[in-house]
Amino acid sequence: MAITISILNEKGGVGKTTTCSSLGSILSSMSYKVVMLDLDPQNDLTLCSPIDPNPDINLFSSLFVHHKPKGVKINDHLIMIPGSNQLQPLNFVDKLKLDLEYQFENPRLILHQFLQPLQEKCDFIFMDCPPNQEIVVQNALAASDYALIPTVPHSFSLNGINSILQLIQRFRKLNSTIEPLGILMNCYDQRNSIDQAVWEMCQEEYPNLIFNTPIRINTKMKEHTHLGIEITEYAKQLQEKRIPQKFSGYEDFKEVIKEMLNRLKLEVHV
Ligand SMILES: Nc1ncnc2c1ncn2[C@@H]1O[C@H](COP(=O)(O)OP(=O)(O)OP(=O)(O)O)[C@@H](O)[C@H]1O
Ligand SMILES: [Mg+2]
Repeated sequence: MAITISILNEKGGVGKTTTCSSLGSILSSMSYKVVMLDLDPQNDLTLCSPIDPNPDINLFSSLFVHHKPKGVKINDHLIMIPGSNQLQPLNFVDKLKLDLEYQFENPRLILHQFLQPLQEKCDFIFMDCPPNQEIVVQNALAASDYALIPTVPHSFSLNGINSILQLIQRFRKLNSTIEPLGILMNCYDQRNSIDQAVWEMCQEEYPNLIFNTPIRINTKMKEHTHLGIEITEYAKQLQEKRIPQKFSGYEDFKEVIKEMLNRLKLEVHV
């Protein structure tokens, strides 16, 4: 059975897409079979991946034309169901009302049903959520075993974490087994005293949830997403070119994955 993980935070720009793409790339390089879904109508996950930016198939057409998951291959172990600018919350609800396949279903359980054919075919399903708590994100939570919450070292962002944890708690009525997998501190600058203070605050407030390794702020993270190159491929290219600076974002994500696999009681073979 696949482990399904929503990556969410209603705060924008905290690293949801970066986390999804990094976990997908690194876990697939470890031979785990991974499917990533781009749930955001901004399509950032699609745009930062090495695939056609306007693919013929996307999540919207998979849902409402094919009525089954159809994806694009990124590497031998990684498939992506690309995003669509049509996947706006209101448009999603309107489409459901007219679609014979779904019109009598609970509108929050559409993704849960849609993902069933993937359950035996892969090890992980990651969903990159848009920065809101609307119907598509609610579908992601209803379909997930776990929620992973990226955040940044800013006090405003800490308020957002409580809101997401409350949302997960409320979702237990619909999905009784959903658990927070963890809070991931991203864009951490260890030389900045505010970052250090927020990091310590987060460790005190969420000792069982915060991942021990923060993802350091690192320009190479921006570079590889901008170029549409997988993080593992970019790390390989930098190594071949003998670029002296460390790709700290890549090193940090590998540590986070070790911790994540431990939390999930899965084998670590990084
Ligand atoms: N550790 C990091 N170091 C440097 N830049 C980063 C890091 N993590 C993310 N970024 C950059 O920050 C920006 C926002 O990241 P990202 O798009 O992953 O956030 P998001 O939460 O998905 O945003 P949105 O809410 O708009 O979907 C991107 O340009 C990304 O390349
Ligand atoms: Mg995003």
